[in-house]
Amino acid sequence: MSYEDTITSFAAEVREGEVSEPAGALRLGVDLGTANIVLSVVDEEDRPIAGAWEHSTVVRDGIVVDWAGAVSAVCELKEILENRLHCRFTQAAVDIPPGISEGTVRVFRNVLTAANLAVSEVVDEPVAAARVLGIKDGCVIDIGHGTTGVSILQGGKVVKSVDEPTGGHHMNLVLAGAYQVSYDEAEDLKKDPKRADDVFGVVRPTLEKMATIAQRAIAGHQLELVHLVGGAASLPDAPDVFAAVLGLPVVRPLEPLFVTPLGVAMGGKE
Ligand SMILES: Nc1ncnc2c1ncn2[C@@H]1O[C@H](COP(=O)(O)OP(=O)(O)OP(=O)(O)O)[C@@H](O)[C@H]1O
Ligand SMILES: [Mg+2]
Repeated sequence: MSYEDTITSFAAEVREGEVSEPAGALRLGVDLGTANIVLSVVDEEDRPIAGAWEHSTVVRDGIVVDWAGAVSAVCELKEILENRLHCRFTQAAVDIPPGISEGTVRVFRNVLTAANLAVSEVVDEPVAAARVLGIKDGCVIDIGHGTTGVSILQGGKVVKSVDEPTGGHHMNLVLAGAYQVSYDEAEDLKKDPKRADDVFGVVRPTLEKMATIAQRAIAGHQLELVHLVGGAASLPDAPDVFAAVLGLPVVRPLEPLFVTPLGVAMGGKE
């Protein structure tokens, strides 16, 4: 299965509640994002088996701001997956923005523990993404709801990482102002394929700002291409804007929002 097919089938499992036939033991991953909490399940061969998600407001700027909300969301999503798969999960991996403090990492761990899950692994977000993309070296740019994360990987480890506050949230603010609509209406407008041209005209400077963050972060590194992931990368023109600013080819999978969450479950085998 190509990585594109793997991501697309995980996206269907999350969106439609589909379940695939597993080979061997199941592993669970938990991704706590600014906009979404996503749980992923893979089998022994790292194939996506199931997934579940919920809109969330429990994390802001890489920090868990609503601990109780995070715990109850993880518990609920875990139960949904257990019912779908007829199994019980006792452990899970969790991903974190690279470079956060020990104390902040502990909060992410504690969310799992409070949801009755032993922590099998704490993995950097770009490392999780790189597993899905099948790369050990290169650059992963993750544009989520709150931040733009730019990471350089060497030998499967993060050697440089920058995380700055520009994401889909900032696009919503700009759209709400331009069209005089509420924040929630701006969020819907942004994702409406029929309005893609209008939306792009308004959010283009925000995408260019994200690309400039990436440009500064990768300066001095020899790269042949960059990988673009995260929900905000779903905008049809996002790769072109990054390619123009960076002067490099940009690879974006069809369902960029699901790359990092899927990779969280894929560890713990080496
Ligand atoms: N089809 C789409 N078009 C444009 N934007 C989209 C689309 N689908 C999702 N998004 C945006 O992607 C963002 C959520 O992406 P993602 O789940 O990667 O963020 P997150 O991981 O929760 O945030 P962060 O990584 O900043 O903590 C939201 O701003 C959402 O509006
Ligand atoms: Mg994210």
